[in-house]
Amino acid sequence: MSAEPKPSPARDKFHERMHSSHMYGLWELASQMTPNPQPKAIAYMWPWSELEPIIKASGEMVPVGEERRALQLFNPGLGGRWATTNNLIAAVQLLLPGEVARAHRHTPTAIRLIIEGSGAYTAVDGERVYMEPGDLILTPSWSWHDHGNETDKPIIWMDGLDIPLIASLDAMFFQFYSQAQVPTTRPANASKQLHGHTHLTPTWVKEKPRASPLLLYSWQQTREALDTLRAQEGSPHDGICLEYQHPQTGGPVMPTMSCKVQMLRPGERTRAHRHTGSAVYHIVQGEGETIIDGQRFSWNKGSIIAQPSWAVHEHANTSTKEDAVLFSINDTPVLESLGLYYEEEFTEGGGRQQVTSTFSSHP
Ligand SMILES: [Fe+2]
Ligand SMILES: [Fe+2]
Repeated sequence: MSAEPKPSPARDKFHERMHSSHMYGLWELASQMTPNPQPKAIAYMWPWSELEPIIKASGEMVPVGEERRALQLFNPGLGGRWATTNNLIAAVQLLLPGEVARAHRHTPTAIRLIIEGSGAYTAVDGERVYMEPGDLILTPSWSWHDHGNETDKPIIWMDGLDIPLIASLDAMFFQFYSQAQVPTTRPANASKQLHGHTHLTPTWVKEKPRASPLLLYSWQQTREALDTLRAQEGSPHDGICLEYQHPQTGGPVMPTMSCKVQMLRPGERTRAHRHTGSAVYHIVQGEGETIIDGQRFSWNKGSIIAQPSWAVHEHANTSTKEDAVLFSINDTPVLESLGLYYEEEFTEGGGRQQVTSTFSSHP
């Protein structure tokens, strides 16, 4: 161990001079080269009991104006940054009967997971995609989109976007459309008719966009898949966990964000693991707990949980009768494509072992 250097007024003066010229010595910054990721974002939960009254009150307090009526979930560890985890933002949005959220487009990519209400729509590039609880709806980067509710009931959904990532890349672009809504140019749910057939892809469509061309992943199909797989062993870390797939490439639905759904069967508890990349979970149904870096979050339907990169986590369904289903977004595609995805699990004896990695060797 090196001894503390002796105080030296001359050296202090040198440092002042260096800083006033906007220079820092690497010897001052060495502690920022951490041996492993040390996110500023913390593990945090917004229980539905807290989200629901606030989102409902927002309907009385705030009109749908230029912007959406969407509550952005700020991670308490990020000092007021517009972010739920380092790279992801989650929000809860309300659209009342008769309302329209005006058309715009932006480089951040968005997904919606429908929480409550039925029959409202998100229009994406001239196609109305109708919403049912549990549906996943995509809004790829730079696609025009507006939301409309022509039903007589409010609709609530979770938004998931890569805004913090796009902001840190200084690649933010945003535009309003010239009118409140983009004219409808395609039939409702057209992308589902075209691309929504598992393993059957239309041969005449030559364009393979980076984001999935399938805009609607219906809850009915998701639920059927989970049920069909019920008897499988599943993942030791995530239970019956399915990734939503780009129908033409088999890859994640968006270049920067992947979406997953996982079923924990009654009483099921997963084994702990950790990996680079962050996630935000939304509880679709059931009750249980997620332990993140030793902190226990007891959840039920509607709750939203932020999980930072490299945090050790495990999930449990605490009901002995009902399934629990968690939907989640994550930034894994970014880490994988940059060769920065690393996952490890914990063995019975308290050791660690690599599960998968896009590193060339153990970090
Ligand atoms: Fe938007
Ligand atoms: Fe995980």
